[in-house]
Amino acid sequence: MKHRIFLVTALAGALAACAGAAGAPPETAAQLKPDGWSEAERQAIDAWSERSAARLDPASEARIAAIVAGMTLEQKIGQMTQPEIRSITPDQVRQYYIGTILNGGGAWPQMNKHASVADWAALAAAYTKASLSTDMKVPVPVVWGIDAVHGNNNVHGATIYPHNIGLGAAHDPALVERIGRATAKSVRATGLAWAFAPTLAVVQNQRWGRSYESYSSDPAQVARNGAALVRGLQGDLSGDGDVIASAKHFAGDGGTFQGVDQGENRSSAHDYAAIHGAGYYSALDAGAQTVMISYNSWTMGGTVPFGKMHGNRAAVTGILKGRLAFDGLVVSDWNAIEQVSGCTVDHCPQAINAGVDVFMVPEKWQSFIANTLADVREGRVPMTRIDDAVTRILRVKMRMGLFERPTAAGRYTGDASAIVDRPLAQEAVRKSAVLLKNDAVLPLAPGKRILVVGEAADSFVRQAGGWSVTWQGDETDNGDFPVGETMLGGLRRVYGAANVTWSADGSAFAPGKFDAVIAVLGETPYAETKGDVRWPAPLDFTGRFPAQAALLGRVSGQGVPVVSVLYSGRTLYATDLINRSDAFVAAFLPGSEAGALADLLAGSKQLDFSARLSFAWPNTRCPSGGEPSGERLFARGYGLSYAHGMKTGSLTEQAPLSTCP
Ligand code: GLC
Repeated sequence: MKHRIFLVTALAGALAACAGAAGAPPETAAQLKPDGWSEAERQAIDAWSERSAARLDPASEARIAAIVAGMTLEQKIGQMTQPEIRSITPDQVRQYYIGTILNGGGAWPQMNKHASVADWAALAAAYTKASLSTDMKVPVPVVWGIDAVHGNNNVHGATIYPHNIGLGAAHDPALVERIGRATAKSVRATGLAWAFAPTLAVVQNQRWGRSYESYSSDPAQVARNGAALVRGLQGDLSGDGDVIASAKHFAGDGGTFQGVDQGENRSSAHDYAAIHGAGYYSALDAGAQTVMISYNSWTMGGTVPFGKMHGNRAAVTGILKGRLAFDGLVVSDWNAIEQVSGCTVDHCPQAINAGVDVFMVPEKWQSFIANTLADVREGRVPMTRIDDAVTRILRVKMRMGLFERPTAAGRYTGDASAIVDRPLAQEAVRKSAVLLKNDAVLPLAPGKRILVVGEAADSFVRQAGGWSVTWQGDETDNGDFPVGETMLGGLRRVYGAANVTWSADGSAFAPGKFDAVIAVLGETPYAETKGDVRWPAPLDFTGRFPAQAALLGRVSGQGVPVVSVLYSGRTLYATDLINRSDAFVAAFLPGSEAGALADLLAGSKQLDFSARLSFAWPNTRCPSGGEPSGERLFARGYGLSYAHGMKTGSLTEQAPLSTCP
């Protein structure tokens, strides 16, 4: 198929970078295919079916071209630079012509964890005002991005929805779209207009610390839900209830060897496109305006040293901007360019030439600007590449109406009620919890005397998981979640406080005193690499949280039915826990409204379980990845309900392991 011809000379330098061998002599023209790609790159590109480009608006394009033509190099590179709010003031946004900013997880206005919506909106207004005060011929408004990945989760008092692993189990893209709408409204309330979501990872190994950010191991499910979230977040980009989305992380983040975060994806060219690329077709068709590049590397079956994605021109330009005809902006991940061979955290011509347009350089942004100015002036980066990047940035800003409606002026801006939607979150919680076992104990009729055990039962921290108020979801407590309901709160609401005894360590347990025990178990929160369970450590619950497993052991088999509820960011070996429970619910990470599970356990108002696993549940402490049939306790798609139940009985347990063989 015809591909745009690229300047072979510019490519040569870039190809050397693609090969991850910065400084190596560029391949000779003879080695390059006619349109400038090596044989390996051609194979990688050709594995992706071609997507037709959207029609560009001629009037807008002409307007953009005129603005670009009137910009200085400093102004262009300022637009391409994305600092973090802890490292840049509004006046520096003006001084350096900064085009976008972000706050990482755990950063808030004035670093106040309880900053109000009004505080966020005031800071956003200050950045916007500064960006419009530059000496540019046509000032360009700044746009602020945030990881609103399960609601506007950094913001104090915001409703936090179930993480994607639970939403995938809901099998309800319309629900995901509604959550996207609510999230967009919540983000706009704070004066921001960019959400770094959806994650389109198709996770193949639950050892990965970001497994909970993925909807499913099924590419088609990821595609459906990813597109739904893009539609929800972006709407038609005309209103101030819309934000731009980021399809992330391109590509292959969920398929690294042994689930190592930021590791090596060894997929074949076909699998890379068919599995890890699936979500991008639907997300771009849904109109996603930005794509975030992934930290991982790709070695095409382990044979081609493409190196890190941020330096891979075949992927970013050849596949994303070429085959997929993506015409929005490509943003790097947090300091990710330093991982490209030959680059540093503030200097990476290879990534610019690869096709990255906006550089997330949270702290060292000033030296990044200086280094990039030199790269252009000394010929390492052609001005055509800079102009392409700036054109894309302005195109996205124009599509979202930013020139007419700078982000800080919207109907939700500053409105604290706009960050809350409890009924929607409660519905999502009920639809995302999977009933894995129910041997004649649920629904638990109101009036029963219930003992609740497990510290997770009254912990917003454990039910929300990572990316909640802080990056890791830690260094917080219930006081940081003023809106919502824990499992304990829900049980007291449904069964009456007089019928619910709370005993975190289970010491109040006594046979005969209670009609049922509800044991709430949960992983402690994590995000990204910190959440990895690295081979050869067993991927189980008991080995990682022995005290909680022991607690369950103490209340189990005492003649009182035990209902276990597990909060986890992944599917993991839990056969021993399931055997010690009469009913077992995989609640994943339900967010701020976990109390809605109580209504399900009681079967209130004929509520029933409807969720079905979107990842297989393992029968081994040492899953090999890829969910092979021999390693499944429950297959993807499994889920019981009151209407369609079955007895599970006793399951074959694997002996405890200290390391995987
Ligand atoms: C992180 C994540 C990415 C996030 C970005 C900004 O490292 O990889 O998903 O959007 O940095 O916080």
